[in-house]
Amino acid sequence: MLRAFLLYLSNATWVRNIVTRWRVARKMASRFVAGDTFEDALIAIRKLNEKGLYTTLDNLGENVTSSAEAMKATDAYIDIFQRLNDEGVKSNCSVKLSQLGLELDFDLCLSNMRRIATRAAEYGTVVRIDMEDSSTVDRTIQVYHTLRDEGIMNIGLAIQSYLRRSEEDVVSLLEVGTRIRLCKGAYNEPPEIAFPKKSDVDANFDRIAALMIDGALSHGSTPASADGKAPPITALGTHDEKRTVYACNHAEKVGLPKEALEFQMLYGIRSDLQDALHAMGYPVRVYVPFGTEWYPYFMRRLAERPANLWFFITALFRG
Ligand code: FDA
Repeated sequence: MLRAFLLYLSNATWVRNIVTRWRVARKMASRFVAGDTFEDALIAIRKLNEKGLYTTLDNLGENVTSSAEAMKATDAYIDIFQRLNDEGVKSNCSVKLSQLGLELDFDLCLSNMRRIATRAAEYGTVVRIDMEDSSTVDRTIQVYHTLRDEGIMNIGLAIQSYLRRSEEDVVSLLEVGTRIRLCKGAYNEPPEIAFPKKSDVDANFDRIAALMIDGALSHGSTPASADGKAPPITALGTHDEKRTVYACNHAEKVGLPKEALEFQMLYGIRSDLQDALHAMGYPVRVYVPFGTEWYPYFMRRLAERPANLWFFITALFRG
């Protein structure tokens, strides 16, 4: 109920206009967002790289309302790949198709994603498409397949275990060796489409993680590249220790080398678990968002954990 309300607020422009003016909100968001600029993100990336962790950079923004904004976001990513390369850091990028114009014009979005992936390929980097709400899943997979059919192979996809359809999607994506990041899912979805109970989402996460691990074995278990630009085929995006333990045990049982199983977590969340998995020998990648468009991302982080909301409200009253 509270989660659904916060997710509703994440799309409400009037709330966004109020909250983003509060200095205390910006301060709270900085727990999850590396800063406003690329330079801020670079500081965070370097610190994580120094610990041996890889990163994936998110230039925050979603649901753009004009093709000019979509082009601007695309140009920004094109610039970012060069800057990451020039800085010699171990990072790739994650993008949202609604930032590239998915809701305005499919072909515009496709062409923007083509430009980004082609640029990323010049630097030997993989770009990961985040998965947004369920209305975007078919179109996101279509963008992936269209570009892949054109020979653009350096694209990975996020898949959400809360969606009832995801197991089937993963089976067909694994057939063509897709780099998948499995996560639980962060949007408001009706029960016909998504499992309403957390225990079902978790069980589906384990089931799909096992499929991905088995699939990685049959496709040849590619390790994460040493420069941090290309993740292995199997990446699990979760801070849930029970999920990571399940995946590690399953991978060990079937003989998937540790280097072929990457764990991904969000900036500012469970850094203890990030370090522990790295110490165990698994590649770990931290998702580092930056930029001024932090509001919807921040609201999704609040929705995931009610304790964050109470902390936020207390901070507001403290001024
Ligand atoms: P769960 O919610 O059960 O949390 C497990 C534990 O993690 C909690 O007990 C707590 O300790 C900690 N935790 C989780 N969320 C927290 C928070 N906000 N603040 C503080 N602690 C928190 N979603 C999506 O729909 N599309 C996408 O493309 C992506 N991409 C993505 C990339 C990566 C790298 C990650 C890690 C996650 C995503 N997500 C996502 C978000 C994902 O779907 C999910 O909403 C969150 O990861 C929370 O789920 P957990 O798996 O962490 O489990």
